[in-house]
Amino acid sequence: MKVMVVGGGGREHAIIKKVKENKNVSEIFALPGNGGIAKDATCVDIEAKDIAAIAKFAEENKIDYAIVAPDDPLVLGCVDALEKIGVPCFGPKANAAIIEGSKVFSKNLMKKYNIPTAGYETFDNMDEALKYLETAPIPTVVKADGLALGKGVVIAETREDAKAAVISMMQDKKFGASGDQIVIEEFLTGPEVSVLSFTDGKVVVPMVSSMDHKRAGDNDTGLNTGGMGTIAPNPYYTEEIAAECMEKIFIPTMNAMNAEGRTFKGCLYFGLMLTPNGPKVIEYNCRFGDPETQVVLPLLESDLLEVMMATTNETLADTEVKFSNGSACCVIMASEGYPVSYEKGFEMDIPEEVWDKVYVAGAKLKDGKLLTNGGRVLGVTEISDNLEDAIKKSYESVAKIHFDNQYFRTDIGRRALNGLQNLR
Ligand code: AMP
Ligand code: GLY
Repeated sequence: MKVMVVGGGGREHAIIKKVKENKNVSEIFALPGNGGIAKDATCVDIEAKDIAAIAKFAEENKIDYAIVAPDDPLVLGCVDALEKIGVPCFGPKANAAIIEGSKVFSKNLMKKYNIPTAGYETFDNMDEALKYLETAPIPTVVKADGLALGKGVVIAETREDAKAAVISMMQDKKFGASGDQIVIEEFLTGPEVSVLSFTDGKVVVPMVSSMDHKRAGDNDTGLNTGGMGTIAPNPYYTEEIAAECMEKIFIPTMNAMNAEGRTFKGCLYFGLMLTPNGPKVIEYNCRFGDPETQVVLPLLESDLLEVMMATTNETLADTEVKFSNGSACCVIMASEGYPVSYEKGFEMDIPEEVWDKVYVAGAKLKDGKLLTNGGRVLGVTEISDNLEDAIKKSYESVAKIHFDNQYFRTDIGRRALNGLQNLR
């Protein structure tokens, strides 16, 4: 079988390493992949957003199965284009990917179907938004409607900050057309949990829960990033809460999308906050999370490709999706200065003994050498039967990897360990 994976980050590397375990796979192409992924797949110089070129490549190379991982191609209709030429895919069509592509859509969906989320108002007129902010409860949260590389959310502690966020999105067009509409929502509190799930529109099968670490600095300080590390499972997400989420959030979301004629097939990501009033949806993503995938998939004991194909074929109910009882920790090694500005092009030294735990996000090959080529450079994941040990082992492996200007948080998983203590 020839498999094609669209995307080129750490998440895609984790997917590729897992798909490779399937004996029927003869070749894996990554579009565009990266210098590190090149160790596990054939990288093809086609950008993930270039839908026409992706479809042409799939046709010419007789691809048997495609996995579309990032949000942009999903929202742009990559799955629609591939299915049109007869290539079966893992991932939602554009009309379902809108659940991530438009926050106005997802908020209205949750309101219509009584799915718990933060209270909100939507605006397509800046003056009305500014007027609303005169009396809105503070702190408040301002969100651009469309995709904004994870940066379109502002938690405003003051009315002035909230207004400045609205102006930057709607007048200064900081995120282009993504800010034509905005959502202003209630500020919620509580531990955050990421739950990735497989769904074929008939059943929803949650994967092991995880916890992201979004801020750049230790103790959750500094700027928001794409994610500086993850652990799984998330200790705050108890069996009781999981059952409540299944009943009040996961199944109702799947049913709501079906009722809207937008059946979602693929990985539906629930970003949840466990508030004093119960679990609420902070955001939906139409894809695997990054770096959540780098802790979730190493704990998957079932064959990933089989589960993905069952999702496509709508036979997920008959397919075993089993996770180990262990814990995983992924520490992201980034370039100093990320997420603002950083230098690239430093040679990376990754000893052979740790390669199978490394998921490369930003690297390129030049004259046979692997050079840093992004803000997030790689992630190192270790698993163990307990979280404390998984964290320890991850940092031991991180210590074996070197590149100039390397930066990583030293406290990945600490919040989760504290949570475990409090829960005991
Ligand atoms: P999002 O891009 O929607 O995941 O938002 C980024 C981060 O902002 C989330 O991970 C939360 O930490 C925070 N956030 C988003 N919405 C809210 C909210 N309504 N209340 C409190 N924090 C929020
Ligand atoms: N790590 C958060 C995300 O993938 O959106």
